[in-house]
Amino acid sequence: MTQVIYVLNGPNLNLLGQREPGIYGATSLEGIEAMCLSKASELGVSIEFLQSNHEGELVDWVQEAGRRAAGIIFNPAAYSHTSVALQDAVRAVALPVVEVHLSNIHKRESFRHHSFISPVAIGVICGLGAFGYVAALEALSNHLNEAAKA
Ligand code: DQA
Repeated sequence: MTQVIYVLNGPNLNLLGQREPGIYGATSLEGIEAMCLSKASELGVSIEFLQSNHEGELVDWVQEAGRRAAGIIFNPAAYSHTSVALQDAVRAVALPVVEVHLSNIHKRESFRHHSFISPVAIGVICGLGAFGYVAALEALSNHLNEAAKA
């Protein structure tokens, strides 16, 4: 059966393309989804690409992924730096998660340096813009293939 990977996006990422393009780039979220769909078809996986401005909805989708998916690509946006609930949700489902940030959060304000998701992610990609999502998809697919062999 085709593996499903959830690609979850947090608050304000619906504004990508218009929102601080000097930091987040010119690619819209739809553009990132198209890049992910093309990579997913190359890798032979299927993706569920979702965005919400609401923490509870993201918790619901992490839980849904726990029932339906093999792994999660997660850009929790500002909730990365604040959300114990999202860390708990990731711990609860025990799926491999790759955390993605478009910007290099370590080069920015100190409040962005800590992420509640990083300690429960298998890896973190930040600072590579929209390409980070494509890299994360390839990394997660590779991780799942290796895990299946073990
Ligand atoms: C972000 C970085 C976060 O600090 C910020 O709150 C975002 C986007 C990124 O993709 O670079 O909204 O997750």
